[in-house]
Amino acid sequence: MPDFNIEQLNKSVSDGILAFGNAKNIEELKKAKTVYLSDKSLISESSKLIGVLPAEKRAEAGKVLGCLRTKILDEYNAAEVRLKNEALQNLLENEYVDISLPFDRRISGTRHPLSELIDTVSDFFTSLGWTIADGPELEAEWFNFDALNFAPDHPARAMQDTFYTTCPNLVLRTHTSPVQARAMLSQGVPIYIAVPGKVFRSDELDTTHTPVFHQIEGLAVDKGLNMTHLKGCLEIFAKAMFGQAAKTRIRPSYFPFTEPSGEIDVWFEAKKGGSGWIEWGGCGMVHPNVLRSVGVDPNIYTGFAFGIGLERTLNLRHGITDMHDLVEGDIRFAHQFIQGGINNRIDGDNNA
Ligand code: PHE
Repeated sequence: MPDFNIEQLNKSVSDGILAFGNAKNIEELKKAKTVYLSDKSLISESSKLIGVLPAEKRAEAGKVLGCLRTKILDEYNAAEVRLKNEALQNLLENEYVDISLPFDRRISGTRHPLSELIDTVSDFFTSLGWTIADGPELEAEWFNFDALNFAPDHPARAMQDTFYTTCPNLVLRTHTSPVQARAMLSQGVPIYIAVPGKVFRSDELDTTHTPVFHQIEGLAVDKGLNMTHLKGCLEIFAKAMFGQAAKTRIRPSYFPFTEPSGEIDVWFEAKKGGSGWIEWGGCGMVHPNVLRSVGVDPNIYTGFAFGIGLERTLNLRHGITDMHDLVEGDIRFAHQFIQGGINNRIDGDNNA
């Protein structure tokens, strides 16, 4: 056991202070602490010696030792704070990320804007209390044409318009209207349904046509429905799609399955070449023969129906001018729609 030697103690404390000051990191500091502050250090060993000192020297020695311990502990604590700060500073500097650098990350996929629009439109009709219905894309000719009052020689049945299949009497449906008959047969009336889905016509792909496109069919059959209900329904649908300023008009037209029939037009302030009406879809009062074909009495029930092009709706909402963009699957196209969420446009803040 060493003697209680003030000089040696002073030296050990100043060596310790020096070592703490020179420590370059916490590990080095901890090592120095073992030498100068642990149980085995001179300062600890010396405290144990106080008891064996002559009584008159004990108080003085205790005081000196106390001062030295406080001094070296203060230095240790200061060094610890300094090194921890340095370590943090290093971390911040080394892990700094320059967010302005260009990145080379693979762009992940996203939902197609049409799928988003189908959800938005479906939400709109469910908010009216309607239900969403669907039917097969490969459809019986009877549902696609006959149940809808198409005469056997109607031009829409022609090969150049319709995709026939090698299965007799099966076609790729040319519109969503066959779901009218299907839904009335399975659910009966009264009925309020919206039917989003794919339809097929043998058109070449160009800027305004595609052989596969989407429609939303609406069908309401109940007691006492008339054209004002049709007009009102299309008006609020147009406002939901194109903003509160949207206006609609129904222009006389012809479909075998509605009587009277109309084309529904929407007014566009921002139409290319000056404001004007743009055709949005077909509509009308359900033809009595259609109701009869599914066993509904047209003397008791009346109904209205409409079929709106969803590509057209999307294009009008977003100023898309080329149908190729919708079908080519370029991810950069779909990505334009994820921020700002076309989903959120149902409140009508978008004046297309
Ligand atoms: N099915 C028609 C079409 O595709 C649109 C339509 C639906 C018209 C319902 C009237 C009623 O052109």
